[in-house]
Amino acid sequence: MTKPKILVTRRWPKSVEERLSQTYDATLNTDDKPMSTQEIAEAFAEFDAICPTVSDKLPADIFPKETLRAKILGNYGVGFSHIDTDAAKAAGVAVTNTPDVLSECTADLAITLMLMAARRASEGEREVRAGQWTGWRPTHMVGTKVSGATFGVLGFGRIGRTAAKRAHFGFGMKVIYYDAFPVKPELAAETGAEARDSIEAVLREADVVSLHMPGGKENYHLINAQRLEMMKPTAILVNTARGEVVDAAALAAALKAGTIAGAGLDVYEGEPTIPPPLLDTNAVLLPHLGSATETTREAMGMMVADNLDAFFAGKEPPNRVA
Ligand code: DGY
Repeated sequence: MTKPKILVTRRWPKSVEERLSQTYDATLNTDDKPMSTQEIAEAFAEFDAICPTVSDKLPADIFPKETLRAKILGNYGVGFSHIDTDAAKAAGVAVTNTPDVLSECTADLAITLMLMAARRASEGEREVRAGQWTGWRPTHMVGTKVSGATFGVLGFGRIGRTAAKRAHFGFGMKVIYYDAFPVKPELAAETGAEARDSIEAVLREADVVSLHMPGGKENYHLINAQRLEMMKPTAILVNTARGEVVDAAALAAALKAGTIAGAGLDVYEGEPTIPPPLLDTNAVLLPHLGSATETTREAMGMMVADNLDAFFAGKEPPNRVA
C-alpha cells in the first residue's frame, strides 16, 4: 500500500520527524525556511496532508475549488486562527490542533511575563547590559508587587485556568475571569475564581489582565484604546494568546501615557514583525515562546501524528476542530 504523502512546513522535533518519516511519505522542511502562502497553495495538489504552524497563513482563497488532494491539515499548535476553517470545511479539508499538551508551558510563560513586567525585569536587564547601572538605591526601578493582587483572566479555557492556578497558589492572587462560554463551577472552584459578567468588569478590577482567548475575526482588537482606558493605571496586560486580540498602537499609546503600567507580550499581529510603536515602550517583548520547551514541542508533534494516523486509518481524528 502506498504511504500517504505529507508535507511538514517547518522543522519539527527530531523524534516526531522520524515517526512521520516511518509512517508516511513525508516531505520535511529541513532548512526551516518559512513557506509562502503560494507554495502552500500549490501543495494542496501534491500532498494528502499538510502540517502547518502559526507561521503559515492559510486564508480562504488558498483552498482550491476543485481537484483537491490534501484532505487534512494537521496543525502544530492549539491556536488555528491562521487557518480559515470555514473555507477548509467548505473544501472538505479536516483541520486538527494540539490542545492540552501546551497548557502548562504557555501558562508558565504568562506568569513569566507578568513577573517580568511587574518587576521591570527587561528594563533592568537592558540597563545592566548597557553598563548604565549606577548601584543600589531605594528608588531604583521600583515595580509592582503581584502577591495578593487580583489576576484577571479573559478566556477561562485550559490555558487561562492553568495560569490562574499558578497565580493563585503561587502568589496568593485573587482570580476573576470572564469567558464568553459557560464555565463549569467545579473548574472555577479550583482557584476560587469569581466570574465577572463582562470583559469591562475584569478590566476595571484586575491588577493583572491575562489574555487567553482565541484569535481570529471575533476577537480582533478586543483590547482597544477604549478598553485600555478602563484598566487601572497600575495594571499590567499579559498576552500569550494571539497578537490580533490587542490593538498594538493603542497599547503603545496607553503605556506611554501611563494609562496602564506595563505589558508582557509573546504574540503580535503580523509577527514576526513587531508593531513598531511597541518597540518604544516599556513592554516586555518575547518571540512567541509560549509552548517552547523540548517536551511540549515534542508532545505537540506526536499529537499531530496521532491525528494523522487516525485520519488515514479512516477514524475520526481525536483533535478535530473543523
Ligand atoms: C499555539 O499552540 O497556539 C502556539 O501559539 C503556537 O501556535
